[in-house]
Amino acid sequence: MANLTINGKTINVDVEDDTPLLWAIRENVGLTGTKYGCGIALCGACTVHVDGVAMRSCGMTVSEAVGKQITTIEGLASNGALHKVQQAWVANDVPQCGYCQSGMIMAVAALLKEKPKPTDEDINEAITNICRCGTFQQVREAIHAAASA
Ligand code: FES
Ligand code: FES
Repeated sequence: MANLTINGKTINVDVEDDTPLLWAIRENVGLTGTKYGCGIALCGACTVHVDGVAMRSCGMTVSEAVGKQITTIEGLASNGALHKVQQAWVANDVPQCGYCQSGMIMAVAALLKEKPKPTDEDINEAITNICRCGTFQQVREAIHAAASA
């Protein structure tokens, strides 16, 4: 058993200590906005915030997440208002199939917290998420739009 704090709620999950956090989020807690892509911390589809930092939840165990504040895409909006990154995604029509997009948005939200006006170089360095639909150009435009919102 592990006590996880996800989107401000404490949730008891019945899993082994070394279960990947992604599994607990999707299978035990039922928050399926966080996606499984590669399972080896390469694609970024499973990105969540752990104590405000973007982390690939497939590469982190449940025991490493205990006592930390975990935020998933379902918890990014606050008081019914979309996060500015989500707003920019809608305004710039970023998603195609959508599969990678929640991870992409979580990675970008963490980047903007750290660097409110990222350069293209900052974006290249921080946003290494893979999009099989090739939305990279729209992602970049939406990041700049969110940064100037
Ligand atoms: S599923 Fe976690 S990085 Fe690909
Ligand atoms: S929008 Fe399809 S994988 Fe990124």
